[in-house]
Amino acid sequence: MTVVDDVKSRLDILEVVGHHVSLARSGRSYKANCPFHQEKTPSFFVFPDRQSWRCYGACATGGDVFSFVMRAENLDFGETLKSLAQQAGVALPNRERRAGQQTASQVNDEALVYFREMLDSAQAAQARTYLEKRGLDRETIDKFELGFSPANGRSLKDHLTGKGFTPDQTVEAGVVRTGDNGWYGDLFRGRLMFPIRDGNGELAGFGARALDDSQPKYLNSPRSPIFDKSRILYALYLAKEAARERGLVIVEGYMDAIAAHQHGFHNVVASMGTALTQEQVAQVKRLTSNVVMALDPDNAGQQATLRSLESSWKVFQAPVAGRSGGTTLFQRQEMPELKIATLPAGEDPDQLIRRSPEEWTRLTETGTPLMEYLFDVVGNQVDTGNAQGKTRLVELMFPLIAAVSDPVQQDQYFQALADRLGVTQETLRASVGRPAAVRRAQPSANRNVQATPSAFAKLDNDPIEDYCLALLLRHAELAETGEDLRPEYFRRHENREIFIQWQRTSPDDGIDVRMEALHGLMQGVMNEEFSGHLEAILEKQMPPLDLAMRRRAFSDTVRRLEERHLKDMKAEEGLRFSEDPPDLVDDSHEDVLQINQRIRENQSARYSTVTNISAGRR
Ligand code: UTP
Ligand code: MN
Repeated sequence: MTVVDDVKSRLDILEVVGHHVSLARSGRSYKANCPFHQEKTPSFFVFPDRQSWRCYGACATGGDVFSFVMRAENLDFGETLKSLAQQAGVALPNRERRAGQQTASQVNDEALVYFREMLDSAQAAQARTYLEKRGLDRETIDKFELGFSPANGRSLKDHLTGKGFTPDQTVEAGVVRTGDNGWYGDLFRGRLMFPIRDGNGELAGFGARALDDSQPKYLNSPRSPIFDKSRILYALYLAKEAARERGLVIVEGYMDAIAAHQHGFHNVVASMGTALTQEQVAQVKRLTSNVVMALDPDNAGQQATLRSLESSWKVFQAPVAGRSGGTTLFQRQEMPELKIATLPAGEDPDQLIRRSPEEWTRLTETGTPLMEYLFDVVGNQVDTGNAQGKTRLVELMFPLIAAVSDPVQQDQYFQALADRLGVTQETLRASVGRPAAVRRAQPSANRNVQATPSAFAKLDNDPIEDYCLALLLRHAELAETGEDLRPEYFRRHENREIFIQWQRTSPDDGIDVRMEALHGLMQGVMNEEFSGHLEAILEKQMPPLDLAMRRRAFSDTVRRLEERHLKDMKAEEGLRFSEDPPDLVDDSHEDVLQINQRIRENQSARYSTVTNISAGRR
């Protein structure tokens, strides 16, 4: 859940608005004299069911708790977020912590330079021999910035303090540790150093391999705000481009990923031995929908996958554009198809790639679709001869089946599960319900706070909004198509702000200058988490569209957003008159008729666009 959603879900709009005006109950809504303009009869309404407000008088505007506070207290979005987060008791990343992180990054950067230098020193002879034995060439060593940490236990610490860092800063960065009596020493000693960069290429920490049998085999940087292994995929920043073209291959180890890159397989990243997390899956999803996990055939590897799926399948389940829509445009953005490539017995990717690049290519290009693989693995792990085994199988498979978006496919899997259990679909359904029904009922991990039935989706993304922005930011000329895209059409404040700030950039500038300006403006009004959101939109995969298709796609998304906006207004109207029958309030009844008329126009325009597009495609 984003911070905005988190804050919103913890606040009640009635309470926040109630600090500014005194509200009188009126059916399922509350009214007051509008705080934003002078009036004698109340035309300002708050709808607790939707956590929204609207002025039907001179302002003719509305929104959620954020837009209310922005207006009422004349704050920009960033200030509003700060104020509301405080009221809601949600911690925002603050500047001091950010400054600390910056120093930690500098310490790590300096350590990296040092480790690389040390690899060429006399003390690293054994490390160099080791690299040679593992078949890494100089180019690869440089590309992955491999290094060596001296064994004496204090040379890095001395080096860093010599550069002006305090001992505490080196500890906070995770490269030096304290012992008893305030004694400081290097964390990594006599190890081969693997710098770990995040998806943007920022250094986050190190993995350090022992050169002998000492334990642990790999010692990693301690968890910190900058180093969180569960958010990083090793080598992702090097693999992005190739992954967009050819799909992504996920292996487990540093050495596996490095060997792959050395042999020209640039679309490979490493999960660093842990189960795949939701954050990792989310990053992958932005790049490609074609993902293969290369697994050792041993049981441990399979267990790891199962664990990873239990934790990350929810992300695969997250709604993607196309599910709700009628147009063909969105359907390119499918669920990522996760496939599993099982490696030959006794070989890890590193060994296989060296023995036979051809076989590696073949295995990673085919792969078994996840579901099929799971049926095999899970099916073989549980004994369906007894009731316990059957229950276990249903427990493991049913949530995954419920997450499948394609109903036909889902039905096939459901049938397959019934077959495995030796029962009919009807019997299975009688005991667990329909997959689709369960999908809706599944409590999402994000919804720990009881959501009010609000117009504001509590989901981390809004595909139509994202798509609309992605089009516009990439093809600025779309702004000239005459579509009336308005900030209020964006429900997500992150998107709304991006749009507002983008409108402030100069249309005369080239796209690069404009993007740079946008980034600058966004930093002014936003918490840094949102620059990540902007990145995500800019990195969004788009189907190739020619100029005409782009325009139609853009008009189509704008109309959808407008229609959604109108429907929100209509729903509010319904609540507003939940007690007084509408025919008693004549002029307002007009409003409803007008909204209905606009929705109808909008729909017919949209459907004609859809027909055009499908016709054009054929
Ligand atoms: P592996 O043991 O398969 O390592 O662990 P590897 O990368 O193939 O290394 P080599 O070939 O033995 O040199 C897979 C990954 O699990 C993490 C590392 O990211 C490693 O690359 N790991 C493993 C650790 O973090 N700590 C460990 O002690 C072991
Ligand atoms: Mn290995």
